[in-house]
Amino acid sequence: MRRISLTCLLGLIFIIGTAAAMSDVPENITFANSKGDVAFPHKAHQDAGYTCKTCHHTLENDTDTPEQKCHDCHTADSEVTAKDAFHKVCRDCHKDYKKEHKDSAAPTSCTKCHAKK
Ligand code: HEC
Ligand code: HEC
Ligand code: HEC
Ligand code: HEC
Repeated sequence: MRRISLTCLLGLIFIIGTAAAMSDVPENITFANSKGDVAFPHKAHQDAGYTCKTCHHTLENDTDTPEQKCHDCHTADSEVTAKDAFHKVCRDCHKDYKKEHKDSAAPTSCTKCHAKK
């Protein structure tokens, strides 16, 4: 009897823990930026079918949840600066995608990503 309730309790903790981890995945992110804020619809990119590792390149497995932000490693004076890292990931993918999908909403110009202040 005691063993069963312990199993149930652990099961419940696991479910709650998983739900909490899922809800921590942001739906929309805005990067405050000196050039103008950049909007990033995070969930829309997941829904488009990109796996977590596509962007969170330090994950070992695709099912892992990232523990660190890009900005924890990519700063203004890191070897690969935040600016270069984001331009490379965001803009290069959009550029490639647009070669095949000319009408795509994926922004590739400065002012389409960096909102006017
Ligand atoms: C198209 C690129 C892209 C994809 C795909 C993507 N993410 Fe992200 N994710 C980002 C970026 C960029 C950030 C913002 C990081 C920052 O602020 O430095 C972020 C932030 C996060 C955060 C918040 C981190 C924190 O500490 O605040 C979590 C959690 C997260 N992503 C989980 C996931 C998971 C899980 C998946 C896959 C199901 C996924 N992401 C897919 C680009 C992506
Ligand atoms: C734990 C630290 C860490 C985190 C978190 C991290 N990076 Fe990186 N990243 C690095 C390091 C170190 C490199 C240097 C080259 C390498 O080891 O691949 C790098 C390289 C890159 C490159 C390649 C640059 C080039 O010139 O080839 C891009 C693009 C990049 N990161 C984008 C991101 C994005 C976007 C995120 C968040 C979604 C992120 N990184 C999260 C550490 C990190
Ligand atoms: C691996 C590919 C990939 C990466 C990485 C990526 N995107 Fe996208 N993004 C897309 C595609 C594909 C679309 C357009 C889908 C469509 O045309 O409906 C898009 C659309 C968008 C849109 C327009 C949404 C709309 O419907 O108006 C914004 C804004 C955007 N991305 C911002 C970003 C930012 C900021 C980053 C980097 C943090 C980023 N994206 C990284 C593939 C990517
Ligand atoms: C696909 C979206 C996208 C496009 C296109 C884009 N950027 Fe960015 N840019 C970003 C993101 C995301 C960051 C990083 C934000 C952060 O570090 O929080 C950034 C960072 C920067 C920074 C660093 C400023 C700071 O406060 O750290 C400058 C400067 C910049 N971009 C200028 C430009 C210029 C000029 C162009 C056009 C030639 C351009 N960007 C095109 C998304 C974009």
